[in-house]
Amino acid sequence: MAPSIASAVTLAALLSPAIPNILAFAQLTAGCTTNSFTIPSWLIEDFESSGTTVRFQALNRATNTSTQLSCQTSGNTWQTCTATGNDSSPLLASVRLEAAVARLRINETWVCSDLTPSRPLNFAAQGEGSLPITCNADACTPSSADPILIKSVLSSPFPLSPSAVPGPSGHDKNGCTAGSRTPSWEVFSTQLNLRNVSGRIEGGNAFIQLRNTITDYRASCFGTLTGTAPATMQCSAQSAGRPRAPKYNINTVLTFSPGSFVLSVNETWFCDDANPAQPIEIFGVGTARLPLECSAVGETTTYCAGDPATFSGRLISEKPIPPFSLGDPLPTAPSCTISSVVAPSYRFSDFETIVTSGSSLGSIRFGIELNTGAAFTGYPSTFFRSGVPVSVTEGGSTAWYPCVLESVGEQNLTPTACAFRYDAATQSLALSADWKCNDLDASRPVAFTGDLRTTVPSLTCSTAAGRTQCATAPGQAWAANVTSVYWGN
Ligand SMILES: *[C@@H]1O[C@H](CO)[C@@H](O)[C@H](O)[C@H]1NC(C)=O
Ligand SMILES: *[C@@H]1O[C@H](CO)[C@@H](O)[C@H](O)[C@H]1NC(C)=O
Ligand SMILES: *[C@@H]1O[C@H](CO)[C@@H](O)[C@H](O)[C@H]1NC(C)=O
Ligand SMILES: *[C@@H]1O[C@H](CO)[C@@H](O)[C@H](O)[C@H]1NC(C)=O
Ligand SMILES: *[C@@H]1O[C@H](CO)[C@@H](O)[C@H](O)[C@H]1NC(C)=O
Ligand SMILES: *[C@@H]1O[C@H](CO)[C@@H](O)[C@H](O)[C@H]1NC(C)=O
Repeated sequence: MAPSIASAVTLAALLSPAIPNILAFAQLTAGCTTNSFTIPSWLIEDFESSGTTVRFQALNRATNTSTQLSCQTSGNTWQTCTATGNDSSPLLASVRLEAAVARLRINETWVCSDLTPSRPLNFAAQGEGSLPITCNADACTPSSADPILIKSVLSSPFPLSPSAVPGPSGHDKNGCTAGSRTPSWEVFSTQLNLRNVSGRIEGGNAFIQLRNTITDYRASCFGTLTGTAPATMQCSAQSAGRPRAPKYNINTVLTFSPGSFVLSVNETWFCDDANPAQPIEIFGVGTARLPLECSAVGETTTYCAGDPATFSGRLISEKPIPPFSLGDPLPTAPSCTISSVVAPSYRFSDFETIVTSGSSLGSIRFGIELNTGAAFTGYPSTFFRSGVPVSVTEGGSTAWYPCVLESVGEQNLTPTACAFRYDAATQSLALSADWKCNDLDASRPVAFTGDLRTTVPSLTCSTAAGRTQCATAPGQAWAANVTSVYWGN
């Protein structure tokens, strides 16, 4: 392979995939509320059936509470189950035995107050699933000892079925679990720029791309080299898609020695192809000496590259992770829906009023964005309206004006409609807004409506050519909580 020259510019371009800041996907502490909105479901365990009695255990995955149920079956009809020892159980189930499956229906209501201590949220969920069974004359046994997963649809606080999120790359690829016992990697691209002063390697950088041959996961790694000491390289997924929330993420660490061209890989990946009820996290390592060809490009620079090379590694350990967890929707922040239910607030910025002398009415403009607890995007939407009272002498206004959208920043965080009232004397701004969230269930957006009041921070006014402009400081943003929130689909 003829080495070609990779400049710092191309390396940087290769290394800055167009992905949003990973911090924006920081994981919320998965508590009752977050789990209820993302993984409302039950695990059915310990199913047994003998004579006309069926018993099983239903574990609510959102609340981590388990209910023991028993039912009397009768022919091929739906029968109600009762919670053992509890007549007032909020979990209702019914069962129907067929030749090779037990069909189950579950309803449950529960309350979460972890994120809203003063305003507990009521959840209600319904789900249906079936469990393969093998029956003889008087007993049926489950075909597998594994739990089954019954996903639910929420009906309260509003109808929602959280969308699934693709699991970590390759987790369900045929052979993932078995093949991971003998891992191997293909290094399919290597580029080194070495500062080589009279045979002494004094620094440089390395860009290495490799593929896990079991999962097909591709990582792009970059490292700055100092002398011949082994350097740790930063790796990221080589995919154009939106990154997963930081849970069950594939992690790759490379160490590269510029003196010997020896590469060590330490990777963590996931498999559940063998059985989604028994997913595993896998830790593997490998070491290889890369076959590189180098050539001098100038007095003190050596460029090295190599043909693709495959090397085998070894499995360090594998660790079970909770049943079905690789296919779960992920609890993430910011979530438009969860923020809007828990503590809705809007961030304002770029407030400005303009009035011309001799006129009693002027114009008002402000930037706005739903606050999801993440950093301000820097792209608020702006609303603008002219013909409204904005001068102090005009006094307080009691009129409401519909907002007019001037420019859209982040569409998902922009009110779909609003009305405002501004009192210039007190700099008090009131807003009544409607907005929608579809981050958890794209097919069923949740509509919210609420009111807020805020005092615009200090304004700096200037008059030129008979035109008075009053504005907040550039870049200044402030938040206001939304009250009287209503929601529905
Ligand atoms: C769920 O409950 C079980 C038993 O009550 C407990 O051992 C486990 O740690 C709990 N899991 C979580 C995530 O709280
Ligand atoms: C029965 O269910 C109710 C409602 O969830 C609960 O408050 C109570 O503690 C349960 N009783 C028993 C004995 O499990
Ligand atoms: C669950 O609720 C639905 C709707 O509220 C109802 O039609 C169904 O009969 C209930 N199922 C059980 C097992 O209680
Ligand atoms: C560094 O440059 C010297 C010539 O000055 C050359 O012999 C040597 O192979 C180069 N080192 C590497 C790692 O390419
Ligand atoms: C591989 O990385 C893990 C952490 O991701 C670390 O605990 C382990 O010691 C590393 N193994 C080797 C051989 O470097
Ligand atoms: C806005 O809501 C947050 C979170 O609920 C709360 O901590 C804060 O005190 C509220 N701010 C005002 C001005 O009410």
